[in-house]
Amino acid sequence: MALKICCIGAGYVGGPTMAMIALKAPGIQVTVVDLNATRIAAWNSDTLPIYEPGLDEVVRQVRGRNLHFSTAVAAGIREAEIIFVSVNTPTKTYGVGAGRAADLRYIESVARSIAEHANGPKIIVEKSTIPVKTAETIRDILTANSRGHAFEVLSNPEFLAEGTAVADLTAPDRVLIGGERTPGGEEAIKTLVDVYAHWVPRERIITTNLWSSEMAKLVANAFLAQRISSINSIAALCEATGADVDEVAHAIGRDSRIGPKFLKASVGFGGSCFQKDILNLSYLCEHFGLPEVAAYWESVVRMNDWQKHRFSQRIVSSLYNTVAEKRIAVFGFAFKKDTNDTRESPAIAVCRALLAEQARVVVYDPKVPAPEILEEVVGKGNHEPRLSVAQSAYEAAAGAHAIAVVTEWDEFKTLDFARIQAEMKHPSFLFDGRNILDLPRLRALGFRAHGIGK
Ligand code: UDX
Ligand code: ADP
Repeated sequence: MALKICCIGAGYVGGPTMAMIALKAPGIQVTVVDLNATRIAAWNSDTLPIYEPGLDEVVRQVRGRNLHFSTAVAAGIREAEIIFVSVNTPTKTYGVGAGRAADLRYIESVARSIAEHANGPKIIVEKSTIPVKTAETIRDILTANSRGHAFEVLSNPEFLAEGTAVADLTAPDRVLIGGERTPGGEEAIKTLVDVYAHWVPRERIITTNLWSSEMAKLVANAFLAQRISSINSIAALCEATGADVDEVAHAIGRDSRIGPKFLKASVGFGGSCFQKDILNLSYLCEHFGLPEVAAYWESVVRMNDWQKHRFSQRIVSSLYNTVAEKRIAVFGFAFKKDTNDTRESPAIAVCRALLAEQARVVVYDPKVPAPEILEEVVGKGNHEPRLSVAQSAYEAAAGAHAIAVVTEWDEFKTLDFARIQAEMKHPSFLFDGRNILDLPRLRALGFRAHGIGK
């Protein structure tokens, strides 16, 4: 009989990952379930709920063949041998650990559902980013409610980055699988290794104990974020001294011990993972009596907050220390290009800071719908008359005093800046928060153009 996989949670991680498994392992039946009926309907429609280059083609090939999207969570659990848990783990907003620890209520609720509906042995794979020892929580709940069924819990962290998810899933640097080093655990690990071995070379599949795997996910993100905060801290120094941060990054990146990736100075990192994972890591450190380690990692987030603040302050101070009633065009709202995800996007902080100075902020993003932009900045149901959304970069910039590039969308590189300049208030300012534009050329066109760290 064909192996059956169920994934609970049809989000940015669960959806693309399961689509790839279904594509590469046609003999495996994959069902993705979610309580959110609107989201499932979207996965079953021509307009997928997430924008990800190449994902439409993959889903079109396998949906209805060996990939199914459904709201029937209990049936999904009953029928599958392997259950991926890919639900959201936001930062807690209340109680002990508020603002730092992960909110595990969705994980706990899933574990209880699995215990309730399981009708035989299951392999549970935790796929969400969750702090170390979450697998233990899942196992505890399952064991306490198992009704005699055997459960093996594995950790299989996701390393895909949004915007490049399909490429990352097709050829991952590595697949990490953590499990218990017992005969049952080893067998479960082997079952999951065999799933990935359909397309991932075996030497790229790393197996570890449960805790190492969970820890590696947090640490990978902490290291990546740390590189960005490090280069952003140097950007501030470059601005003060006349060095160019891109030139510095290029020069240090040629050292093979440092390497060229993740050294792009920017308005700050965003996304659902970096900040959350670092805060989690530092919360864990404190819990285990390591306040110095906690403070070390927390400084990566503090530097990022400062970077976002610094960017908006630079806009205000360049515009003669007042932006009140000035129109400022914000180019891009997603946390990076090629995604419609806005979670923790630096654009949110930038828009809020400018609105606090009573600027009129006009946002344009090629993929994020207007209602979502408004809601992210001012909160659901609130109205801010100074905030609006434009349908194009040209519309946003017309009559503006300044442009702030916050997301590095490719289309911003090919805009007709001579036309934009002609339609702006003068002097026209431009702040490139991603260093994607040719500043000397913009200056030649009459812009007062600034980049990050230059
Ligand atoms: C990240 C990890 O890369 C991925 O492995 C993990 O599974 C989830 O978290 P993601 O958040 O999707 O992925 O995107 P990523 O490409 O890592 O970018 C995160 C943020 O850092 C973005 O806001 C991006 O614009 C910013 N960034 C990235 C920089 O500012 N400079 C860089 O050099 C790289
Ligand atoms: P991620 O980026 O980690 O994939 P998302 O928020 O995009 O996170 O997706 C998580 C999904 O998990 C959401 O669609 C949410 O509805 C779903 N979810 C949360 N709790 C449960 C649950 N108990 N049963 C089924 N689905 C759930």
